[in-house]
Amino acid sequence: MLVHKIDEVKSKIREWKKEGLKIGLVPTMGALHAGHASLIKKAVETCDKVVVSVFVNPIQFCPGEDYAEYPRTLDEDVKLAEGIGADLVFAPSPDEMYGKGQRLSNDTLAYIVPPFFYVDKLCGKSRVGHFDGVCTVVGKLFNITQADCAFFGQKDAQQLVIIKKFVKDLNFNVEIIPCPIVREESGLALSSRNKYLTEDGKKEALVLSKILNNIKACYDKGITDVNALKETAFSFLTEKHDMEYLEFVDKDDLEDKTTADDNTLVLIACRVEGVRLIDNIILGK
Ligand code: PAF
Repeated sequence: MLVHKIDEVKSKIREWKKEGLKIGLVPTMGALHAGHASLIKKAVETCDKVVVSVFVNPIQFCPGEDYAEYPRTLDEDVKLAEGIGADLVFAPSPDEMYGKGQRLSNDTLAYIVPPFFYVDKLCGKSRVGHFDGVCTVVGKLFNITQADCAFFGQKDAQQLVIIKKFVKDLNFNVEIIPCPIVREESGLALSSRNKYLTEDGKKEALVLSKILNNIKACYDKGITDVNALKETAFSFLTEKHDMEYLEFVDKDDLEDKTTADDNTLVLIACRVEGVRLIDNIILGK
């Protein structure tokens, strides 16, 4: 069932809660692919009722980013979500989420603001305010759906850590379930933004997973010095790759690492054909 209004979701949730059912939420921005499908599948396996939200959240896009161009494929998204067994697809408009005529800024709108330490690094460095927008919309979705569990992909590793953090710090009553990255056979991590790449660009984009896999192989051979591990990336890079960062942090609190260990999360962001791509790997896995 596709609904657009918050009140419609709330009334369905009330029914389900009365029956004592366990509710799962899969928050998405639509343009669903096999990565989202794996989250929905996991939610269907784990919960009695599953809500998939489809909302291109304006407040998490920074000026100059792709809010207007972001792929919007609601009909296909509903088919895919319901085909896997989702019970409700919630696709609100920005007015429905934030109020008609509301200026979308933290001057006039209450936000959930994650701690500076968690956002002043990695993607947060270039995407200022992005995680405020993510946490705000995700917090609203938790409140609207009263979800018992919510499913997020490990692909957006910094987002996952930050969401876990605000859920813990603000006592949200929801269990966060991380789900593994889904990749094309080539190794390319699935992303809605891969749609912007040409076939050639998709080949060039393999540089992210190649760098990460090579770092993991070096770590497995016993190299733990982070500078030495970072050095290994350079042989993969050409003028077609505009690397934004390659960082080694603790997988739970994003503290920087100088010596790698099994809890080390290695994250990379790199532009290919102007498209900003991210990927990551946990060395202990
Ligand atoms: O990861 C995403 O697709 C978005 O950041 C999320 C969690 C749906 C919030 O808009």
